[in-house]
Amino acid sequence: MHAFLAFILACTSEPGSAPTHALPTLPPRLDDRPVTRGDERPLREAVIAFTAEVRGEVEPCGCPTTPYGGFARRERLLARYREAQDPPLFVLDAGEMLAKPVPGKAPSESSDRAEAVMQLARATGLDAWAPGPLDHAAMPTEWLARHATVSATWGAPFAAATVVERGGVRVGVIGLSAPVDAVPAHDAVSAVRGAMTGEADTWVVLSNAVAAVNRQVAEGVPGLGAVLATAGENLEEPWTGKGAPVIETPGRGRYVTVIHLSLGSTPGPWAIEDGGTWKSVASARERADVAEAGATVLGEAFERDRLALSEATRGRNVAVVSTRPLAPDLDGDTPVAKLVDAFHSSQLATARAEVARPTGSPYGTSAACSSCHGDRLASWGFDDHAKAWASLEARKSARNPECVGCHSTGFGKPGGFSALDARTVEAYKAVQCEACHGPMRGHAQQDGSQSALVTEATCRACHDPANSPSFNYTTYLRRISCSRMAVQDLPD
Ligand code: HEC
Ligand code: HEC
Ligand code: HEC
Ligand code: HEC
Repeated sequence: MHAFLAFILACTSEPGSAPTHALPTLPPRLDDRPVTRGDERPLREAVIAFTAEVRGEVEPCGCPTTPYGGFARRERLLARYREAQDPPLFVLDAGEMLAKPVPGKAPSESSDRAEAVMQLARATGLDAWAPGPLDHAAMPTEWLARHATVSATWGAPFAAATVVERGGVRVGVIGLSAPVDAVPAHDAVSAVRGAMTGEADTWVVLSNAVAAVNRQVAEGVPGLGAVLATAGENLEEPWTGKGAPVIETPGRGRYVTVIHLSLGSTPGPWAIEDGGTWKSVASARERADVAEAGATVLGEAFERDRLALSEATRGRNVAVVSTRPLAPDLDGDTPVAKLVDAFHSSQLATARAEVARPTGSPYGTSAACSSCHGDRLASWGFDDHAKAWASLEARKSARNPECVGCHSTGFGKPGGFSALDARTVEAYKAVQCEACHGPMRGHAQQDGSQSALVTEATCRACHDPANSPSFNYTTYLRRISCSRMAVQDLPD
């Protein structure tokens, strides 16, 4: 406790700005259910840091709207909670963590990424997670079962549940892996929960099943604290029915959902108390944007959560849920940042190995098109595709293999872009003709070959939901110079 308060003061720009004798009035409770107090127990506190649907993203997103995320920032956020020592921190993930969906590539082809993500997750202190269908598509069952996974629905060789003990607090974790229907999910979770009476201070279900299944489990299985779940299609506010609440978290590792827990009763549903920021990811974003105020803002947020809790708990289990963006204020050198760098190097090596072909490159690069398609090249120069590399440079990310693939031409493709030396970069930078049309050196040398078919899937290889959330094929197609020029300018 003292360590925690000292930590808050250290994080606040004006030490002692919120003296304890002037507690603010609590906002109205979100949870309208009558306050039922159970068997009173000595108060136990814990912090749960919860992620889901990380989908192989190891670092901050390049997207202009939400440039958050990454394991290095996650490490620094969690370190702040750990430095506070009291209450103990538990790190959980509800699955769909390992695979980054790439059109035209099976998840199993990216096992190097899956291994790296697992290593990063362990390095940031992951205690337990529930694998999901994409994880299963990426890695073999035996491998998954060896890596701290719990799944009551998939059965052997997965452990159904685990109890993590830290700082005298025991958190029981049951895995619920999709796809699963409501009845088998309910039965699997209640069988595990029933068999584990009295072994933990609170029980959570980590679930990547759909919302309807989560709700049924939360309401139907007695003795659960909460269901911590993937968001799926859209992120919902914490849901409270007759039993335990269902709490979702945003995907792609851009945020961490932080739950401050005060356990004042026997294991049972958490009541969700206001004071957190889960209501609005946008408001979390605004706070992150407060320039250079990162540490202060976090410190204040901790304190608010803490005050809300201390008022509310006696004979109840109370949770304050917040969504913390992993924003640039968390940047810095850390052991995990070094692991991320090592992953970059291995990606570059893979790209180089793919590219090495004795016969020379099938890519002509746009210089080879200018003699016959000068008009096209000139109008392409006004497209955003032409400045895609400059956008990376502006973000100091032009050496980051996590970014260059979509902001250049033929990256990691046979005979394509592989090395980040100045000459190669000059040739392949930006989204050139062959990023869409495929390699066309032969065509430029008049061997009679033609463009690859350019379809919606061609665009979506780069315009994926993570980096181009508003992509719409029809409207985007109209905006590229190639389709604007139509047929009229074919060379003689
Ligand atoms: C999967 C492909 C992909 C990856 C990987 C990717 N980007 Fe992008 N990026 C895009 C696409 C597509 C757009 C255009 C989005 C739109 O406008 O719909 C974009 C847009 C951007 C923009 C906005 C340009 C502007 O100002 O309009 C920036 C900056 C950017 N990316 C930086 C990055 C960085 C930094 C990384 C690496 C962390 C990265 N990108 C990784 C595909 C990608
Ligand atoms: C020597 C002149 C010449 C050069 C150099 C050249 N093209 Fe062409 N290109 C043509 C002609 C002529 C046509 C129309 C006849 C045809 O369909 O082949 C054409 C058609 C195309 C088409 C539409 C037909 C198809 O293949 O689907 C695309 C796309 C294309 N070129 C892309 C490129 C790209 C990209 C480059 C640079 C790597 C390039 N061209 C270089 C002469 C050239
Ligand atoms: C190799 C990756 C790649 C492919 C393939 C690709 N794009 Fe893009 N696209 C990008 C990137 C990166 C940007 C952002 C460039 C910037 O602003 O820096 C972008 C930007 C755009 C923009 C401008 C968006 C804006 O916010 O103004 C349009 C429109 C667009 N792309 C359409 C398409 C269409 C249509 C296709 C398929 C026919 C396609 N793109 C294929 C990478 C790609
Ligand atoms: C973002 C993806 C993209 C890029 C980059 C791109 N193109 Fe295209 N290109 C297309 C699409 C899509 C079409 C078909 C447009 C249509 O028919 O509406 C097309 C059509 C063409 C055609 C005419 C084919 C026909 O039958 O009308 C030529 C020639 C061509 N592109 C050449 C080029 C050259 C040269 C470059 C580089 C300067 C280039 N393209 C860059 C997507 C792209």
